[in-house]
Amino acid sequence: MINQIKQLKSKALEQINQIKNKADLDKVWRQYLGRQNGKLTKLLRGLKDLSVKEKPKVGSLANQVKQEINQAIDIKRQELFSSGSKVKSETLDFTLPGKKVELGHLHPLTQGKQMAADIFLSMGFEILEGPEFETDYYNFEALNIPKGHPSRDMWDTFYIKSKKGELLRTHTSPMQIRVMEKKKPPLKVCVIGKCFRHEATDASHEHTFYHIEGFVVDEEISVANLIYTLKTFLNALFKTEVKIRVRPSYFPFTEPSFEVDFACLNCGGKGCPVCSQTGWVEILGAGMIHPEVFKQAGYIKEKYTGFAFGIGLDRLIMMKHKIDDIRLLHSSDLRFIRQF
Ligand code: DAH
Repeated sequence: MINQIKQLKSKALEQINQIKNKADLDKVWRQYLGRQNGKLTKLLRGLKDLSVKEKPKVGSLANQVKQEINQAIDIKRQELFSSGSKVKSETLDFTLPGKKVELGHLHPLTQGKQMAADIFLSMGFEILEGPEFETDYYNFEALNIPKGHPSRDMWDTFYIKSKKGELLRTHTSPMQIRVMEKKKPPLKVCVIGKCFRHEATDASHEHTFYHIEGFVVDEEISVANLIYTLKTFLNALFKTEVKIRVRPSYFPFTEPSFEVDFACLNCGGKGCPVCSQTGWVEILGAGMIHPEVFKQAGYIKEKYTGFAFGIGLDRLIMMKHKIDDIRLLHSSDLRFIRQF
């Protein structure tokens, strides 16, 4: 019997040695160690018929061989698993690149809002938002635009049927009054928020857009302060020296009023489609705060002066990224948004 066991062992080990796949490995295990018909299992079953003297000898040899076969199978299994080419389907390739985690990013308008806020904050401005749902009083009357005034046409909006006559604000200028009602100068405020207009949309007009309103109120504030502030802001935003031009204009809430243009960044002022061949791009309205506005806010007559300006953020962002249609900004088209 001892010989039988030894023969069985060398046969098994030889067989295991030549195995090339896992299925054969399982087969060999069953062939020798399987519970029902394993050759060694059967031999072990025969132990009970041996004499008391032989039993322990043969028994311990059989157990030792069983262990050796098991060990050889384990070693072979590891060998097969670690050589990827042999049993590819069962291996894990740690060198494969992982699944990419898709990270989103902020919308170009949100990025623009944050950039503008950072710049004004660095110049000592307080950043506010104000209500988008506004009253006729703050949006128009307090800004020296009485009922029936023709300039209301420029700021036509969406009106809500209610006693107070609420509407969607057409600019962030109402915050001038809201802030001045609560605080006394010196004031340095920047309001960045959504505005709405009853607009027939086209490549440069949207019914929903962002305005940056800035105003500074103190004693002896001048137009020079206004121009310096605007230039500093534009230079920081565009990260280059921006040339600006100031033209006389009209707004009911400023006197004098200006329109500010900057030399087209696309063509450097030579003339191109972006600037309608003029070399200049209009970006904002500004002026010295009208005495009537101070009066509405309850400020003492002629004690304070101040400047104010209103910038269309969407147009600035269009200039910065060379976007030729404002409607893209609200289109939710990921092919567009992913570029920024
Ligand atoms: N609110 C104006 C608009 O919507 C922009 C503007 C012009 C704001 C002049 C101002 C200003 O504060 O002084 O077109």
